[in-house]
Amino acid sequence: MEMKDTCAVITGGASGLGEATARVFAASGAKVTLLDRDSTRGAAIATELGGTFVETDVTDEASVQAALATARDAMGGLNAAVNCAGIAIAETVLKKDGGLHSLESYRKVIDVNLVGTFNVARLAADAMKDNPPAPDGNRGVIINTASIAAFDGQRGQTAYASSKGGVVGLTLPMARDLARSGIRVMAIAPGIFMTPMLAGLPQEAQDSLAASVTNPKRLGDPSEYGRLAKFIVECGYLNGETIRIDGALRMM
Ligand SMILES: NC(=O)c1ccc[n+]([C@@H]2O[C@H](COP(=O)([O-])OP(=O)(O)OC[C@H]3O[C@@H](n4cnc5c(N)ncnc54)[C@H](O)[C@@H]3O)[C@@H](O)[C@H]2O)c1
Repeated sequence: MEMKDTCAVITGGASGLGEATARVFAASGAKVTLLDRDSTRGAAIATELGGTFVETDVTDEASVQAALATARDAMGGLNAAVNCAGIAIAETVLKKDGGLHSLESYRKVIDVNLVGTFNVARLAADAMKDNPPAPDGNRGVIINTASIAAFDGQRGQTAYASSKGGVVGLTLPMARDLARSGIRVMAIAPGIFMTPMLAGLPQEAQDSLAASVTNPKRLGDPSEYGRLAKFIVECGYLNGETIRIDGALRMM
């Protein structure tokens, strides 16, 4: 699919990887609608990009349904959905102080990162299924965000890694489910990217993380994620796979 013909919703579009994706897509001629809980930043970015913002909670069915309807009206269609909304927590199962990993925080991370991703993907698929097909039958594409934590989760990442492992796990079966509707489903597993989450760490911690990357020895630039998402939209033969983008980082 060409970017000029792309009408994309991007969750988590008010920050980090989602914002970068919105910028790359808009600069390439796509129409974009940003879906996020953060209306202040989301609205400002959407205005700058000539796009639309809808305050949305990805875990809420009615909220996403309404957001997708607004997005379709604003863009004149919908044929791409990029799931970047997510949260991260650090919590060990047995804590040094004798406490136990809270079940509530575990459920929360699964709810936003996994259930939220599935919720947006299924409703976006429903909105795309009647699009006119391209010559090869494609009607749209869904891109989910996993993490290398899906494969190499670290101490304190039980909840986060579970949620991201779920995102990797749903990619192939969802691609198979949606094949007859001509909708592709892909996932991106980022390594360590310089988003607001990471920028808040002390310089020493950032340097140490950068040094752990195999090559190049730096944190990922969010625009590199956005360019990969753009490539997935454009390359119609990519389907059902999770692509790592991590400078060959393999965390022990
Ligand atoms: N930054 C990294 O190094 C990195 C690495 C691997 C994976 N990821 C994943 O990439 C995605 C984006 O991460 P980021 O670094 O850009 O984070 P970020 O915190 O900069 O942006 C996340 C955005 O999601 C939004 N959001 C959170 N919960 C939401 C909800 N319920 N409904 C709607 N919006 C919601 C936030 O408001 C925020 O704007 C996340 O899924 C994260 O797990 C990031």
